[in-house]
Amino acid sequence: MPLVSLIDMYKPANEQYYAIGQFNVNNMEFVQAVMEAAEELKSPAILAASTSALKYGGFDYLIDLVKTGARMVSVPIALHLDHGVKIEDAEKCINAGFTSVMIDASHEDFEENIRITKEVVKMAHPKNIAVEAELGRLGGIEDDVNVDERDAFLTDPAQAKEFVEKTGCDALAVAVGTSHGAYKFKAEAKLAFDRIDEIKKKTGIPLVLHGASGVGPKLIEKAQKYGAELPGAKGVPDEAYVKAVKLGINKINIDTDLRLGWLGTVREMLAENPKNIDPRKILGPARETIKEIIKEKMKIFNSAGKG
Ligand code: G3H
Ligand code: 13P
Ligand code: ZN
Repeated sequence: MPLVSLIDMYKPANEQYYAIGQFNVNNMEFVQAVMEAAEELKSPAILAASTSALKYGGFDYLIDLVKTGARMVSVPIALHLDHGVKIEDAEKCINAGFTSVMIDASHEDFEENIRITKEVVKMAHPKNIAVEAELGRLGGIEDDVNVDERDAFLTDPAQAKEFVEKTGCDALAVAVGTSHGAYKFKAEAKLAFDRIDEIKKKTGIPLVLHGASGVGPKLIEKAQKYGAELPGAKGVPDEAYVKAVKLGINKINIDTDLRLGWLGTVREMLAENPKNIDPRKILGPARETIKEIIKEKMKIFNSAGKG
């Protein structure tokens, strides 16, 4: 079916307490992996492109790949701009048929973040396109950090309420202890579940967990077996997803896990088949690995069967 507005996909997710996975895509194999996983599990899915992904894949190429893939499946698929920095980035995507955009002005002060987000909402809502904003600073909660320091970068629930009321954004990315990439926690994985709970109670809108990859031992061990160097890699455990979803997280962003899965299988194929020169025998199995990772996430996020 054609791409679906994330505004419409959020509604049942928010009511029924499940999260829709955001899977970052850069090329055809990643797009196909998400579509196949979504169709097989009858799950809604969000395909996200960052500005650097759009540069790499080519703006029109990547958008058309996602639109084509969405038409070929029977479940709701949204196309989302991940971490749009400039208002112009969001505007370009709104005009190109994205069904959700993120404007990430979290590095600006509170008032400026509100002003920028409001501008994007004004452009997106007449077209029924969802807007995600971010408040707080992503980063791990370390044991040697005191309460004041911790509070300085985690999302403040009272500010979140004011921000949502003033901007009219549809979803809010919250800083609750996660961070992007493969190295999220130095020691034990810690998420500020109390914050998720408070922010949800104060805002009632869909909350988004960025930097949410699991970086599980299976992915790490396989990549390392074939030569990757990832000492100390650590991510979000499965139990944390379940707890976060129960508290009101409705969108979970996964990029690093797909990169790690892809890396492990590409390395394996190269190492095990030194005489192979056919790229399809390298990228095909990598696509399968990514698809299986996505299916596991859809089950844990409780979105399987909701398409
Ligand atoms: O949040 C960042 C995403 O993982 C996208 O990363 O800008 O390298 O495409 P990227
Ligand atoms: P990971 O790096 O944990 O996969 O997070 C991705 C993300 O938040 C994209 O916006
Ligand atoms: Zn992110």
